[in-house]
Amino acid sequence: MSSPSSTLITGIGELVTNDAAPGAFAAVTDAALVIAEGTVAWTGPAARAPAADAVVDAAGRAVLPGFTDSHAHLVFAGERSAEFAARMAGRPYRAGGILVTVEATRAAPDAVLRANLRRLAAEMLRQGTTTFECKSGYGLTVPDEARGLALAAEITPEVTYLGAHVVPPEFAADPAGYVDLVCGPMLDACAPSARWVDVFCEDGAFGADEAAAVLAAGRAAGLLARVHANQLGPGPGVRVAAEAGAASADHCTFLTDADVDALVSTPVVATLLPGAEFGTRQPFPDARRLLDAGATVALASDCNPGSSFTSSMPFCIALAVREMRMTTEEAVWSATAGGARALRRTDIGHLGVGARADLIMLDAPSHAYLAYRPGVPQVAAVWQAGRLVAGSP
Ligand code: NIG
Ligand code: FE
Repeated sequence: MSSPSSTLITGIGELVTNDAAPGAFAAVTDAALVIAEGTVAWTGPAARAPAADAVVDAAGRAVLPGFTDSHAHLVFAGERSAEFAARMAGRPYRAGGILVTVEATRAAPDAVLRANLRRLAAEMLRQGTTTFECKSGYGLTVPDEARGLALAAEITPEVTYLGAHVVPPEFAADPAGYVDLVCGPMLDACAPSARWVDVFCEDGAFGADEAAAVLAAGRAAGLLARVHANQLGPGPGVRVAAEAGAASADHCTFLTDADVDALVSTPVVATLLPGAEFGTRQPFPDARRLLDAGATVALASDCNPGSSFTSSMPFCIALAVREMRMTTEEAVWSATAGGARALRRTDIGHLGVGARADLIMLDAPSHAYLAYRPGVPQVAAVWQAGRLVAGSP
């Protein structure tokens, strides 16, 4: 729905536009922005702002593009706090916990899955996430994967088929049979609701050949590829992503020099998910190595009930700055424009003229406060396509 009138937001202490050099953070101080017809119509110095039908005074606060969370697993039932507590008491993380959520998800009625999904989406919106990706992967049967994706498609266009999350117990003796199902009847049932295909390429999940087969089948069905790569140890995930022309390789925690080269020399975005390292007490990915080599880096939440049960992009930004040595500018770019790149979207992640008016106002004068004041709710207001959808300015 487009907004019937124009809105001027003025008195902006710092306006993060990300609209200068491609790939770089950009901001203006003492700025203003005009929203019209759901898009950004004008940005510039507050002193030169044009008139508009409505005026909002930011009173020196910062305005940023809404966060783009390009990696989340929101279709599930149940929770795994006991597993988290055990891990914090010293037990290592293994992908096996996923099956606990698979069992709960299969048993849940649609209404329970829908309510959980919508609660998490609302939680994300209040924290400034204006676009999120949502994966299946806790159903792992044809009807359970298909219903998960149909539910996700009700609330986001960025829907990802992750039938290849793990091999479910009923296929334990026949993993090749499960890959055939994922590439055949399950894909046929899921492709109409999805834009993306993903695979967990890791020891204990799917190997290089299986992952390549899943991505090839998905692409033949019209889906674009993304990969869970190199999360728990070194492995072929990044290489598989590069060879498949994937939009993104996600996690990238254990990389060889050849992996870094592949990320630099192809358009594959390296999506880092520091919530997962926080929640599994693994070493954080080496963001500096990737950035210094010239890779494009995105930050996302990986929101899921096992490894990373946070929906907070500000928390991920704070981790990235403190633990991964990203600058505050790099972290905010990666959480906005980087996520947009990882989703191959040019209409979001920046506030250049013509961008979708997805933006947030902080209760703070600059983007740096997102890391400077970790854990403090600082998103005062959220606009989506020009409409105020959370908080109040
Ligand atoms: O991205 N890596 C695989 N999948 C999730 C974990 C899911 C779970 O533990 O339930 C992840 O970390
Ligand atoms: Fe994930």
